Amino acid sequence: MPGLKVAVLGAAGGIGQPLSLLVKMNPAVTDLALFDVVPVVRGVAADCSHVDSPATTAGYTKDDEGLKQALTGADLVIIPAGVPRKPGMTRDDLFNINAGIVRDLAQGIADFCPKAFVLIISNPVNSTVPIAAEVLKAAGVFDPKRLFGVTTLDVVRSSTMSAQAIGKPNSAPEYTIPVVGGHSGVTILPLLSQAKPALPESLFSDTEKLKALIHRIQFGGDEVVEAKAGAGSATLSMAYAGYKFAEQLIGAAFQGKKGVVAPSYVYVAEAKDIQQEIGQDLAFFSVPVELGPNGVEKLHPLGQLSSYEKELLQACLGELPGSITKGVNFIQQPK
Ligand code: NAI
Repeated sequence: MPGLKVAVLGAAGGIGQPLSLLVKMNPAVTDLALFDVVPVVRGVAADCSHVDSPATTAGYTKDDEGLKQALTGADLVIIPAGVPRKPGMTRDDLFNINAGIVRDLAQGIADFCPKAFVLIISNPVNSTVPIAAEVLKAAGVFDPKRLFGVTTLDVVRSSTMSAQAIGKPNSAPEYTIPVVGGHSGVTILPLLSQAKPALPESLFSDTEKLKALIHRIQFGGDEVVEAKAGAGSATLSMAYAGYKFAEQLIGAAFQGKKGVVAPSYVYVAEAKDIQQEIGQDLAFFSVPVELGPNGVEKLHPLGQLSSYEKELLQACLGELPGSITKGVNFIQQPK
């Protein structure tokens, strides 16, 4: 396999730095391009470049066509660029700043690496992924199989918090829990009834405990925002989660790994079976995605939901369509 070029956009940030380090450690990556608007990114790249893994590492800013250089030839682009939340803010409050950032970076992808896999971390993911899709569509290069909203932190939190809730805090790695819907508050729908291995029946019969666990998963990001008290949102767990998804995609897309399934917020407009399960024609939704050489190989169905999960799906559907439309309109009807 030829080595991969990975570009991290927003690489000098709280997520970008540890994420860049994790990507640097992947032996399949031979070219790591770190882009940010702040010049310290060159220092971040110099720092990362001393790690004794294969990837050559370079930092780029806006000067000297930095975005072009970072993106040209990229196989995979990961975007954690943008402002994070402060206490009291929702992810939607970030829209005004981050929408424009993602639009401009997506334009760069359309111009310089239209075939790359694109992983969007910048919030609000429910809207920024539709924004990127619209930019790529307008440029005639949108491939729905290659654009992913990263919801892996919700998946990671589901395992960790469920293990804690059932009194087995060290057993988080054993649990695989699909998370569907979107990536913000009530749009995050962890399907605890489908956990593998199954979570104990006592959790499901204790309604208050179950509700508290689901609420904690949905609003887990707030725990970090509040604890950081104005200094940002999740960065280390997000870098871990973002890398986890990137590694799964690299394995499935470039290293022939089979049966790799991971939830991600993807284009589902043409997936009639998913639309039917959701009960609405939504363009984007997070579902378990089977990954392969083309990116999305197969969208897995939501499957059997408990009656409480069906209620939660309705709450998700009360918010998600508006967030998608907001992203689409930002490109289609700019003010
Ligand atoms: P940060 O402020 O520490 O870093 C953001 C970086 O983006 C900064 O270095 C900044 O200079 C850079 N940047 C800004 N505009 C840019 C542009 N046009 N091009 C390239 N780089 C640019 O923020 P942090 O904590 O790293 O968060 C980044 C984003 O990730 C936020 O939008 C945050 O809400 C989101 N996030 C997403 C999560 C998810 O689960 N998908 C979880 C946690 C955060």
